Amino acid sequence: MSDKRMVKRFSAVVRVSHWMYAVSFITLGLTGYLLYGSALDWMIPLFGSQEGAMVVHRVAAVFLIIAVVLPLLMRPREVAAWLSEVFNFTSADVAFLKAFPAKFIGVKVEVPPQGFYNGGEKINSIIQIVCGLGLITSGLFLWLAAVPPLIMYPLHALLMAIAVASAIGHVYLALLNPVSNEAIRGMIAGDISEKYMKENHGRWYQEVFKARKGGGA
Ligand code: HEM
Repeated sequence: MSDKRMVKRFSAVVRVSHWMYAVSFITLGLTGYLLYGSALDWMIPLFGSQEGAMVVHRVAAVFLIIAVVLPLLMRPREVAAWLSEVFNFTSADVAFLKAFPAKFIGVKVEVPPQGFYNGGEKINSIIQIVCGLGLITSGLFLWLAAVPPLIMYPLHALLMAIAVASAIGHVYLALLNPVSNEAIRGMIAGDISEKYMKENHGRWYQEVFKARKGGGA
């Protein structure tokens, strides 16, 4: 039906930042792996050599840092709202996490109304924030050769492994899972349907529509 009412979810700056981060992250994962393992050695010629892959790794790292700094400078309130939401864990989030295994395989399960982010998205956000900051810091130390690589290499690889595991689950849910794949529209066009908002982010729906009724906005 074309009378779907839409609700704004993400600003253009946040969407650009997300996709820039995602592309940089995947490039960093692939080029970084070439240093540690051999399963992807067939990719080395794509970069000319292993040294070429390392140059691409550093360029991608710069883009990843820009993707982090951009919304901090241009949409600080949206970033602050994201941080305060994801670090505020409620009983509704715990209930969501208990139902998560069933949801992950596409089974619809009733959970208490979720906020702007559900419990799973909060966990993904926290993992990506902690790992992202750790990867940037350890990566800069390695780049500037400020700390013995013997300590930084394993730490850098461990953080990436955790971030990749979470990102694989996240991409699966965003692209393939029938329960949550409508969310992709929010990250591409910036809006989602009111119906999807009500069904999947009930607490956020209540907050927005109560505020509109109460405040006359
Ligand atoms: C390339 C495939 C990817 C797709 C299709 C995708 C899709 C999405 C979508 C649809 C959302 C909004 C979800 C919502 O409405 O709450 C989102 C949010 C987010 N994305 Fe991605 N994403 C991808 C890659 C990545 C990568 C590689 C990372 C980090 C390494 C990442 C980190 C995040 C974070 C932290 C959020 C906010 C929390 C959440 O929704 O889990 N994304 N992504």
